[in-house]
Amino acid sequence: MSRESEKQLAATKAAILVHEGMRVGLGTGSTVAYFIGALAQRRVKVVLVATSPASEQAAKALGLEVEPFDESGRLDLAIDGADQITSDGWLVKGAGGALTREKIVAASADRFVVIADSTKLVESLHAPVPLELLAFGLSSTLVRLAPCALRGVPASPDAGVIADYLGEVHDPSALASRLASTPGVVEHGLFGPDLVSEVYVGVGESVRRIVVRGEHE
Ligand code: A5P
Repeated sequence: MSRESEKQLAATKAAILVHEGMRVGLGTGSTVAYFIGALAQRRVKVVLVATSPASEQAAKALGLEVEPFDESGRLDLAIDGADQITSDGWLVKGAGGALTREKIVAASADRFVVIADSTKLVESLHAPVPLELLAFGLSSTLVRLAPCALRGVPASPDAGVIADYLGEVHDPSALASRLASTPGVVEHGLFGPDLVSEVYVGVGESVRRIVVRGEHE
């Protein structure tokens, strides 16, 4: 099976989790694009909160309802892809530059389900770890984060500068603390197991479900 088929299998399985009336966080990326298609086919009435203009446009184009995120609101479910996934539920996210909105949405959901193809499974996390940085004082922030490089892509929808941490990731928890406490870092792409409910990974012709947190069916 191809990577694309594995993404589609995982995305289709995740779409079954969506029920009428839910508020659902919508991630960003090629796997989420399959999820949007599968969700549109289910014809359930839900309200979506999108983590990027691309996901918002794709969902609206298929007739799905997308609303701005009400920050005081909870989401029933959030579905998103990932760049790297370990068996104990650590993720690296942000290859698409949407990491900050993705983390806010994941943290706001009662259930956060990650969908991916089998190439995303890793034994241990490694660079690059995506970062969103404030433009103010950028040169000084980059020095504090070394080794780190600007990605040279457009700013995030929130005007953040997208960069990548390029050092070792021996201890994700320690690195997450270091990045989060560095002045000028808006957000980093390390997502801890405390955020992740389950992971659906397409592996060949089946979907492997990894439960990280919670007792969801
Ligand atoms: C977007 O910023 C990322 O976090 C994506 O969710 C991640 O890169 C996975 O993307 P794909 O589904 O395209 O591999």
